[in-house]
Amino acid sequence: MAFGEIKVRSYNGQIDRTRVEDLERRCEVGPAEHVFLFTDTMGDPICRIRNSPMYKMLVAESNNELVGVIQGSIKVATVRKPPKDQAKVGYILGLRVSPLHRRQGIGSTLVHHLEQWFIANQVDYAYMATEKNNQASVKLFVDKLGYVNFRTPAILVHPVNSPSFQISYNIEITKLKVEQAEFLYRKFMGSTEFFPNDIDKILRNKLSLGTWVAYPRGELSSGEFGSDGRVPNSWAMLSVWNSGELFKLRIGKAPLTCLLYAKCSRLIHKAFPCLKMFSLPDFFHPFGFYFMYGLHREGPFSGKLVWTLCKFVHNMASNCKDCKVVVTEVGGGDAVKLHIPHWKLLSCPEDLWCIKALKNSERNSLYELTRTPQATRALFVDPREV
Ligand SMILES: CC(C)(COP(=O)(O)OP(=O)(O)OC[C@H]1O[C@@H](n2cnc3c(N)ncnc32)[C@H](O)[C@@H]1OP(=O)(O)O)[C@@H](O)C(=O)NCCC(=O)NCCS
Repeated sequence: MAFGEIKVRSYNGQIDRTRVEDLERRCEVGPAEHVFLFTDTMGDPICRIRNSPMYKMLVAESNNELVGVIQGSIKVATVRKPPKDQAKVGYILGLRVSPLHRRQGIGSTLVHHLEQWFIANQVDYAYMATEKNNQASVKLFVDKLGYVNFRTPAILVHPVNSPSFQISYNIEITKLKVEQAEFLYRKFMGSTEFFPNDIDKILRNKLSLGTWVAYPRGELSSGEFGSDGRVPNSWAMLSVWNSGELFKLRIGKAPLTCLLYAKCSRLIHKAFPCLKMFSLPDFFHPFGFYFMYGLHREGPFSGKLVWTLCKFVHNMASNCKDCKVVVTEVGGGDAVKLHIPHWKLLSCPEDLWCIKALKNSERNSLYELTRTPQATRALFVDPREV
């Protein structure tokens, strides 16, 4: 098929909704030998970007057939580029090309059109995340379109399918008011890479279930947590986003080890329910998940506090009917991941983020950015971009 026959236009829910969902079902994301996940958008393919301040979805058509789709969102976030600390960033996600139409330039054309929309809206940098071994995607963005490898955060997944965890009496867990949470985030995480300028909108979104802090019991004598800038010596904070309200996940195909484990653990659990064994939930039917974001910690005991907060969220998730996993994503070199309970079988140790400067004036600062080592650096992963 000739390149010129491809028509790219904005998504129109009335005519494209079912065709986009059908395309999504036909696309495997990632290499064939790995687990691949289907995203069930429950009749609203644009739901993943709907909560962003600005968003766009494009479709590609060939002879009236829908052959490709891409989504993008724009926001202002912390990106260290002196003299300014903030930049307009455009996030690219959900790129899919119909298997029968690949290697004909449709993927590149869609990215190019989305970049034009970013440029028209004064975006400084475009960025995207992909699985490190998704060769097609890495080659397309890095080799063909000039993106550079930027960060390799870890996606940590913990299944929800066990009795409640006991929370230590020595640790106090408090839910913050939105204003308190916003104040603490701006004060302690404002300079974290990709910290969103509109954190208040995220915290006030109906999908945000709340922000909690943990600290050693008795360390906060009086007053509200964080008021007047007073915080205990050791403390930790995180927020929870109910992603399952937006879309569901389902495993399409999994390695044999994963299938065997799931089957055996469920059988043993059925036969010996009194053995408090952890059985893997049924991931083959659509399920929801909680996403933990804005993890921050300070002080010598903060590792234990993070661990406890994660267990607390797990307990919360086990009360939600279709929530089968708790997920979070943290900077690749951030030691906080040592304190986040997760299953290696389900997690991804290195997600790959790639970035590209869209303005000539930003090319040098991008060079500086990508040269900065990510070791120990925290990263704010926006729940609206999951
Ligand atoms: C990734 C994907 C969108 C590429 O779409 P596409 O229309 O085939 O891409 P293009 O034709 O524009 O390819 C442009 C370049 O990307 C690279 N590329 C694309 N697919 C490739 C593959 N399977 N293997 C190696 N390189 C590949 C090549 O450099 C190619 O240029 P060339 O054909 O001149 O060699 C498509 O394979 C897809 O939908 N995959 C499943 C969903 C997915 O993984 N999405 C990405 C999530 S971020």
